[in-house]
Amino acid sequence: PHPETPIPVIKKSSFNKSPQWNFEDIYNLDALRGSRVCVQSLRNSKDKTFQKAFLPNVRMFLHKENFNTREWNRLSHFNNPFGFMEMDYNDVMPVVKLIPKPKEPLLDPKPGGDGCVRCAVVGTAGILNGSKMGAEIDAHDYVFRMNGAVIKGYEEDVGTRTSVYVHTAHSITASLILFKKYGYKSAPHDEGIIYVLIPEGLRDFQWLNSVIKGEKVSSGQYKNRTARNYYSGQYNESRFYVLHQDFLRYVRNRFLKSPNLNKRFWPIVRPTNGAFTLFLALHACDTVSAYGFITDDYKKYSNYYAEKHLKSRVIFFANHDLVQEKNLWKYLHDKNILKLYQRSVS
Ligand SMILES: *[C@@H]1O[C@H](CO)[C@@H](O)[C@H](O)[C@H]1NC(C)=O
Ligand SMILES: *[C@@H]1O[C@H](CO)[C@@H](O)[C@H](O)[C@H]1NC(C)=O
Ligand SMILES: *[C@@H]1O[C@H](CO)[C@@H](O)[C@H](O)[C@H]1NC(C)=O
Repeated sequence: PHPETPIPVIKKSSFNKSPQWNFEDIYNLDALRGSRVCVQSLRNSKDKTFQKAFLPNVRMFLHKENFNTREWNRLSHFNNPFGFMEMDYNDVMPVVKLIPKPKEPLLDPKPGGDGCVRCAVVGTAGILNGSKMGAEIDAHDYVFRMNGAVIKGYEEDVGTRTSVYVHTAHSITASLILFKKYGYKSAPHDEGIIYVLIPEGLRDFQWLNSVIKGEKVSSGQYKNRTARNYYSGQYNESRFYVLHQDFLRYVRNRFLKSPNLNKRFWPIVRPTNGAFTLFLALHACDTVSAYGFITDDYKKYSNYYAEKHLKSRVIFFANHDLVQEKNLWKYLHDKNILKLYQRSVS
């Protein structure tokens, strides 16, 4: 076919397991980011398994200048959030063409320091309840959060600052409802905050169209909502990033390739928003400390740290492989690639 003509729509129902294309493990690469003077950087890890999998310059962000019909055709072979399978060119292309080219690298070393970018990534897991990790979290150069990032009333355990907030259209809207009873009123909106969107489906492109134009959502599940309101006045196009499908697929293929991708429900199987956030940090920072991520002793804690007064159970849904994520965080911790907050060492 002509490279500038969109290919016919590929259907998920044509496959009873995740299809494997011969370009499956090939990703766009960008120029190496930053000057990388940090000696302790995780990029300098000597772990052979990690070295083999890790692509420090994998393309992380989608924008109008790195997207065209040829890219659309390539990425149409992968299901969402890894690509555009089953989506309509005319629903997605005009929106991607609105995304400004963002500033890279995502984060700069703090002035006057040693050139290292030190990050904390704060998940929502129950292990943080009663942890008193707040001050330690806030002491990092940058603090990443995602989903229902409840802070007010939980500062002693989870800290106060948010430098990077990672979300989907679903998570930024649904978290307000799910965590309302814990006093969650809005997504973090610290002055100068960076917002990162995981484009998990068509609804995220409908959302993005509204966010960028400053208009109401014109179609789909969030029709009529004013998406910008969800950012509490901190939306700023120079601080808004959209993760690239290649980055998401690379994280899945190289680090979290669940055996469930070979099952009939393969199209819903993907890493959690927390996992994507941790990998964003592993590519944007030199050192990464992870708090509130699933650990071996997860049964001792509630599902969410916000559940201070309710001992809930961690529920394993079919779309996420939490056992695999748990084992990966432990592996990366044991290899000194990140520091995982654990309360009892097994
Ligand atoms: C959106 O707003 C229009 C005009 O006010 C209204 O007719 C329509 O029912 C609304 N749709 C939804 C889904 O709320
Ligand atoms: C957007 O953010 C940039 C970088 O933080 C800042 O220089 C600029 O003034 C902001 N623009 C608006 C309209 O707030
Ligand atoms: C949360 O932490 C507090 C203080 O350590 C403790 O008393 C409480 O039982 C914990 N809640 C749950 C649900 O584990």
